[in-house]
Amino acid sequence: MAIDLIIVDNYEELSQRAADIIASCVEADPACTLGLATGTSPIGLYAKLVEKCQAGEISFKDVTTFNLDEYRGLNPEHNQSYRYFMNHHLFDKVDINKEATHVPDGADPDAEHACAIYEQLIERNGGIDLQLLGLGHNGHIGFNEPQDDFPAKTHLVQLTQRTIEANSRLFDSIDDVPREAYTMGIGTIMAARSILLVATGSSKAQIVHDVMYGLVTPQVPASILKFHPNVTIIVDKEAGALCQQ
Ligand code: GLP
Repeated sequence: MAIDLIIVDNYEELSQRAADIIASCVEADPACTLGLATGTSPIGLYAKLVEKCQAGEISFKDVTTFNLDEYRGLNPEHNQSYRYFMNHHLFDKVDINKEATHVPDGADPDAEHACAIYEQLIERNGGIDLQLLGLGHNGHIGFNEPQDDFPAKTHLVQLTQRTIEANSRLFDSIDDVPREAYTMGIGTIMAARSILLVATGSSKAQIVHDVMYGLVTPQVPASILKFHPNVTIIVDKEAGALCQQ
């Protein structure tokens, strides 16, 4: 049940190791289902996957993907929507069938509908083989913010002030950051057959430590990963600075 923690020297190495794990999953089952993440941490690994695909080393043509989350109220064309991010960093640059790529529908104002449809799609697809995760400074995964319980399914969340501030660097102004999002639940994430989390930089050192060695609590959503049988966490040495190796 232990998490496999890999501490590497730098972002380049982190990106390579993570891309290799995802590529192995695709090689083992070319029709696998990947759960994907946004944020700055996975940008490097997506670039490595694009390189591998363009070099003919892997193909995404039969791969299905489900992204973790999406801001509520942003159209897919908005340059800060997670759909736009995924198209830009991965989908438009590899041979994937766009119809098989899924992101919660942030443009659907009916939260119950948007979330139920997404959860059903994942279930009907037979679940997720490998779920990629980033890590928020407060331990959030997807947009599952610290709270009193672990939400099971895809649901509507109110973003915390800390997350709004952290993500405001990508928007023109903090007022432009959406206050709500749709996200896979902790149950949805934990149902994935394997999980790969990446985190970088000294600002993540404390939370990586707490996830690895702290109590399992919904106040640190990623702490529940300790209960998953197949989790790999890759961090650079700054993010891994408080962990023994
Ligand atoms: C956002 C995303 C998360 C991501 C987190 C960390 O809030 N919803 O899925 O993991 O930010 O992002 P970064 O990798 O940029 O630190």
